[in-house]
Amino acid sequence: MTAAAEFLVVELLHKKRDGLELSDQEISFLVRGFSDGSIPDYQVSAWLMAAYLKGFSRRETLFLTRSVKESGRSFDWRSLNSNFKGAVFADKHSSGGVGDKVSLVLAPVAACLGLKVPMMSGRGLGHTGGTVDKLEAIPGFSMQPTERQMIEWLDHTGVCLTAQSADLCPADRKLYSLRDVTATIDSVPLITASIVSKKWAEGVDVVVYDVKCGEAAFMTNLAQARALGSSLVDATSGAGIRTLACISRMDEPLGSMIGNANEVEECLWMMRNDYPSANHRRLAAPLLALSLRLAAEMAVLGGTRSSIEQAQADARAAIESGQALAVFMAIARNQGAVPGWETRLPQPEVKHAVTATRGGRISHIHARQLGLDGIRLGAGRATAESRIDPAVGIEMAVRPGDTVAKGDVLLYLHLRAGQHLEVNLERIFGFDADAGPPAPELLLERIST
Ligand code: URA
Repeated sequence: MTAAAEFLVVELLHKKRDGLELSDQEISFLVRGFSDGSIPDYQVSAWLMAAYLKGFSRRETLFLTRSVKESGRSFDWRSLNSNFKGAVFADKHSSGGVGDKVSLVLAPVAACLGLKVPMMSGRGLGHTGGTVDKLEAIPGFSMQPTERQMIEWLDHTGVCLTAQSADLCPADRKLYSLRDVTATIDSVPLITASIVSKKWAEGVDVVVYDVKCGEAAFMTNLAQARALGSSLVDATSGAGIRTLACISRMDEPLGSMIGNANEVEECLWMMRNDYPSANHRRLAAPLLALSLRLAAEMAVLGGTRSSIEQAQADARAAIESGQALAVFMAIARNQGAVPGWETRLPQPEVKHAVTATRGGRISHIHARQLGLDGIRLGAGRATAESRIDPAVGIEMAVRPGDTVAKGDVLLYLHLRAGQHLEVNLERIFGFDADAGPPAPELLLERIST
């Protein structure tokens, strides 16, 4: 005889449909039942839609986060290696952007600031790129280490770069698939539980969120970005993790490169402090500043630096001294990159210059359109099954505020031989002689507990 279910699912659906709060036990029951298959998808779909429409209280968001985290394994680093006794484990999460390669520079810099970084990343989503896809452009680089390897790399190098493993928050994977087909992805509490459960399971003491805000971000306006940032900070601090959220502008692409291998290449230039041209350095400057700022925020939260000014100065010194580059090379070696990988990154077969058909002052560069063009080239996925071509992408030659003449190069397409892409310049570039100066800073706001 099977035991009677703890709750009647339909009663919980009634409750949520009527806007009432579910208890910790009720939420945990739903997540466990969904994970083990005893509660069917159609009932969980109804619950997700009710939650989407009626919202979640802060307590419900935290309960859901905890239940999802408890659906799989968690790391407790200090119990796994005696060398980790006084260590501070920290990570960063970005809500996704175009040309967002911050993690590749931030992780080694954060290690230089005395943090241990067990960073877990995702693949590209929609028009935005993903750290896993970028790192996999490095020949041989693997993001599925064993636990023993993770411990060893964190101990010796301070960084371990991974993709989400199947045993970490398995309920999130199932829930995300269901949200994807029930129009319930863009719910702040559901996004919060999805992101924070994974950071919690990752066993970190510190998480800094980079909530992107702008027309190429999932949060297109400041009110939405604030809502997500506050919810992430709430749930993360509820999990006992020190945290803050930075809201950063995502209108134009970050840096000059959009793609995969070319983004790794841009990070190498940054970490070598050696760019192919002054223009590449200029276009990378806001990206570098944001990467250093976020790493510095992690260090201050983690207590390895006492002020943001000192942390930022030390972060910059880690780049200028070559220390961050040495850490990145050690990460690549640990994670299977073939010797000499830095000269063997996939290269485009053709670089096609796209030139201005008119002169004027560039007021806007629409990164979302560039991200979509990147997908059309094969740098992102058109369908879940699409294979990424690491060699293709887009290289920007200008940024907002620049004045160009007819015939000047605006961007280069990185192509395979024989590949063509019709670029709609009107959709990418806005020209407005009267627009004010472009915002100098990417960082818009900071939300702390
Ligand atoms: N990223 C996640 O991991 N989960 C979401 O729900 C949205 C973005």
